[in-house]
Amino acid sequence: MPEATVRDRARSLLTASGRSDVPPFMVMDVMAAAARIEAAGGHVIHMEVGQPAASAPKVAIAAAHAALESGRIDYTSALGTPSLRARIARHYRETYGCAVDAERIVVTTGSSGAFILGFLAMFEPGDRVAVTVPGYPPYRHILTALGCEPVLIETSSETRHALTGEALLAAHRRTPLKGVLVGSPANPTGTMMSREALTSLISAAEGAGIRFISDEIYHGLDYAFPAVTAAELSPHALVINSFSKYFCMTGWRVGWMVAPEPLVRPIERLQQNLAISVPTLSQIAAEAAFEGREEMEAVKRGYQENRRILIAGLPQAGLNKFLPADGAFYLYADVSAFTSDSLEFAKQMLEQARVAATPGIDLKLLHVVRDSPAVAYSWTKQIARPEAGGSLLVIDRDAASSEDSVPRRTISPTTEWSSVSCRR
Ligand SMILES: Cc1ncc(COP(=O)(O)O)c(C=O)c1O
Repeated sequence: MPEATVRDRARSLLTASGRSDVPPFMVMDVMAAAARIEAAGGHVIHMEVGQPAASAPKVAIAAAHAALESGRIDYTSALGTPSLRARIARHYRETYGCAVDAERIVVTTGSSGAFILGFLAMFEPGDRVAVTVPGYPPYRHILTALGCEPVLIETSSETRHALTGEALLAAHRRTPLKGVLVGSPANPTGTMMSREALTSLISAAEGAGIRFISDEIYHGLDYAFPAVTAAELSPHALVINSFSKYFCMTGWRVGWMVAPEPLVRPIERLQQNLAISVPTLSQIAAEAAFEGREEMEAVKRGYQENRRILIAGLPQAGLNKFLPADGAFYLYADVSAFTSDSLEFAKQMLEQARVAATPGIDLKLLHVVRDSPAVAYSWTKQIARPEAGGSLLVIDRDAASSEDSVPRRTISPTTEWSSVSCRR
């Protein structure tokens, strides 16, 4: 074969698969711009990423040190170490008063790993699975990469961004669904579903033959009322959780699921083949983390204070259309009074006020769902640092009320976060 033909054919081998063609996180552009400002010596208040404020509980770190000292770190069973699975089952008894058999607990590589295993075990390629928008983008991107079709159901502040049974069934009538995924507390709205709302959604889903997946990663970070686990409401629901958020263990990559009993063995087979097992050191640390709750409750109190500052501070900045986040560490503010382009707004906020936040468009789906426009703030550590010298986003009301309906210069860096209150 002529050399040129071989080269052409070889080049075609470099083409990525269609399924890998998932959108990037637009917030990464905001982060890159923030990094440029910081590299030039500027100070940026980071409110764009849901990164917890503290390190893993001290007991967890100590357990990992001790395990390293003792020598071997081997594979574990694909479902996780028996003692961690038992400890997680105990957590359901202690926290929710709900009996969950340890045999149904599967330890995963963060909740991200749980989505992959759960979707593979529950759905065939082409199956339609409902997710809400605004919502955590990887839900739909993981589904797409696995050959499933995410069906976007738009929620609004009227229902506190909760998916209702009626909205789910209406979508099901349009295009039959095989599954639905919801999170409560939710990213990016911070809203939570009440026991009644969750119960009625699960029964609407299961009554229509739609499998229910509950992302409970922000459980423990609830301020308005105690979060309810779907594990208590249905043995058929797939419940996903993680040590990343409440236990501040993002980089340890350890999470879990409570799987419906018939799915445990299929998930075990998948995990055996896809990952063998979850990092052993992380499992050891995660088990110990349950003994560090006192320390994590102190971190949570810090979040509560940040939430209070943000809820009081945003209206002073001209932003008063938001729901007072019930849980997690996000607040989703409507900025439609000032712009029709949330990405541009986020860029201006960064450039002029030195506050990095996530543009609402990133949390919806460009070209499919209209831009809100809104911005999402994550409040973990940045606003509570006493030395935070950044500026509070301030809207220039005069510019906003001029004939120019989309003012270009809407933000001025005049108010210091620290002057609003920055104590911890
Ligand atoms: C709603 C939601 N689910 C899941 C995840 C993934 O977390 P992890 O894989 O670290 O458990 C995140 C991370 O930000 C999230 O916000």
